[in-house]
Amino acid sequence: MSNAPVLILLGPPGAGKGTQARMLEEDFGLVQLSTGDMLRAAVAAGTEAGRRAKSVMEAGQLVSDEIVLAILKDRMTQPDMARGIILDGFPRTDGQAAALDALLAANGQKVTAAVSLEVDDEAMVGRVSGRFTCGSCGEGYHDEFKQPAQAGTCDKCGGTAFKRRADDNAETVRERLKAYHAQTAPLIAYYEGKGVLARIDAMGPIAEVRQALSSIVGQVAA
Ligand code: AP5
Repeated sequence: MSNAPVLILLGPPGAGKGTQARMLEEDFGLVQLSTGDMLRAAVAAGTEAGRRAKSVMEAGQLVSDEIVLAILKDRMTQPDMARGIILDGFPRTDGQAAALDALLAANGQKVTAAVSLEVDDEAMVGRVSGRFTCGSCGEGYHDEFKQPAQAGTCDKCGGTAFKRRADDNAETVRERLKAYHAQTAPLIAYYEGKGVLARIDAMGPIAEVRQALSSIVGQVAA
């Protein structure tokens, strides 16, 4: 039995799940689990799962539950999970939500809170298209909304190489938004039914969203 908090960030591409999850790691010592990052690592490493996921991700569709669950289950056996986790980009389907419940129940746990980051779809195309990340530490930036303090140098690690994702173009973002509304948005009602859902307006500046999220997470992970 573990009392470690299990937090879920729900929201479409560009809602700020990754940005806020990294901040929650800093603020509360929780561990960010991003299935998107795990899948991109599998693609970069050329594993069997990565080879199968690559074209699906580039088309803006969801990777199969089978692949995603295998990657996540593996990560969830690591000892740092005892600090509590923030799930960023998972679950994304009914099947994933049920599998997460079963995985947690086996350890005497359940979802502590699911926070829906509420945003306007059209604005997400601009947010995602302007995103870039540090090639060394993965810190996220934006051409307009979050530039490094010193142009060309990462605020976090001093790295000078940056990269952009293959699926961060307007056309693919629209496909990802469709997939979100068809397969993932129904989970908002699922967690509402379990009494663990919170909604926050995520259209404001990053610092404002951080504050709203921190007050929710502070109640369950202090
Ligand atoms: P994933 O990597 O999870 O991407 P996503 O869900 O599409 O989300 P994003 O990373 O695009 O957005 P985000 O909400 O994290 O926004 P961010 O904080 O970066 O998944 C990629 C693909 O992998 C999927 O399409 C699918 O194929 C596959 N996949 C992953 N998980 C899966 C699963 N469970 N099942 C099946 N397939 C799966 O912010 C975006 C930009 O906006 C940044 O530049 C940031 O600086 C800026 N920004 C953030 N907040 C604000 C703000 N408040 N104001 C202004 N700018 C902001």
